[in-house]
Amino acid sequence: MKTTHSVRIEDVRELSLPADSVELVVTSPPYPMIEMWDDLFCSLDGDIEGALDDADGETAFELMHQALDPVWEMLSTVLVDGGIACINVGDATRNVGDGFRVFQNHVRICDALTDRGFSPLPDVLWRKPSNSGAKFMGSGMLPPNAYVTLEHEYILVFRNGSSRRSFESNADGRYESAFFWEERNRWFTDTWSDINGAEQPLEVPGADGDVRDRSGAFPFSIPYRLINMYSVYGDTVFDPFWGTGTTSLAAMVAARNSIGCEIEPAMAELFDARLASVTEFAEEVLTERLDAHESFVDRRTTDEGPLSYEATNYDLPVMTKQERAIQLYAIDAIASSENPDGTEYTVDHAPFSRDTQSEPSLAETLERAKIDSLSDF
Ligand SMILES: C[S@@+](CC[C@H](N)C(=O)[O-])C[C@H]1O[C@@H](n2cnc3c(N)ncnc32)[C@H](O)[C@@H]1O
Repeated sequence: MKTTHSVRIEDVRELSLPADSVELVVTSPPYPMIEMWDDLFCSLDGDIEGALDDADGETAFELMHQALDPVWEMLSTVLVDGGIACINVGDATRNVGDGFRVFQNHVRICDALTDRGFSPLPDVLWRKPSNSGAKFMGSGMLPPNAYVTLEHEYILVFRNGSSRRSFESNADGRYESAFFWEERNRWFTDTWSDINGAEQPLEVPGADGDVRDRSGAFPFSIPYRLINMYSVYGDTVFDPFWGTGTTSLAAMVAARNSIGCEIEPAMAELFDARLASVTEFAEEVLTERLDAHESFVDRRTTDEGPLSYEATNYDLPVMTKQERAIQLYAIDAIASSENPDGTEYTVDHAPFSRDTQSEPSLAETLERAKIDSLSDF
């Protein structure tokens, strides 16, 4: 199997993609009213600087969102009917003018998408790791003027239009793309407290977590889960605010096609550096998924007896009929080429099998047994 991944370095508001060319959007825009993105927003609309200088938070917030609106408009055209858009965003707290307040980015983006014909679906909250003991804001121990800290972000989920995508019954790609029953139970909960940003496996290069924080990269597990949850083999995933390319890396590991667009040219170099270890990383991710499933099978068999079905492509039982055809794909080779529109990466995938790997050492086996139930993916 081959997948392609194109990267366009330009303002996404100028990007032209054919209608209905994308089946899933996974993205995280710059967050309005978070100071690290002020300069970028000011470069997108000159009036924003004036509003910030005048301490007019309401106007600055609205203008920043108006700079994002053309992208939401474009998604309604490029996404197929029934295609899913997942928008990761956090609210912003800020002192502007009269005082401290929260700017509810998630509310404004929900309005922008519903106004453009998207149907809101249940969203996910994910909890960011917090590392400060003195994290509360406001007036110490004295009520009532302290504020809770924001330690969560939203993954807003929308369907383009109101009807679900339709598939031929028994469409092979869809059945091969299935996830395990216990993954379903973990991924389709509305609160993800097991996403650890500090353990980003494919580090954004640059010595420490600071570069990742400045780039606004989200943890790999977020796009990887969403791609597995909301797309099938053969689909194309689009990230209009591509950053360091985490969505494309996740699409490669999940063997889906991708398109990314990024306004800042320096990000493409960070992506190439991250790509250097993606083959081994994909193998780790897939091994961990199968190992975690095997541990689940052991626990379940001990507690409730054997599972009812056998997987076709793996020597493992599964809970349901729908999981039988699960097929994971490893990354064999990656080639890149430049074209007038940007860079295109072609990835060769081969069916992934744990049999092709060397036997794990006893220490590795014990280590895996310890960590698999906590698997991030
Ligand atoms: C929150 S970051 C995305 C980080 C990304 N998810 C990752 O894992 O690296 C938002 C990105 O959108 C880019 N961006 C902002 N406005 C843009 C525009 N109009 N066109 C293209 N990219 C834009 C910024 O340069 C930034 O890299």
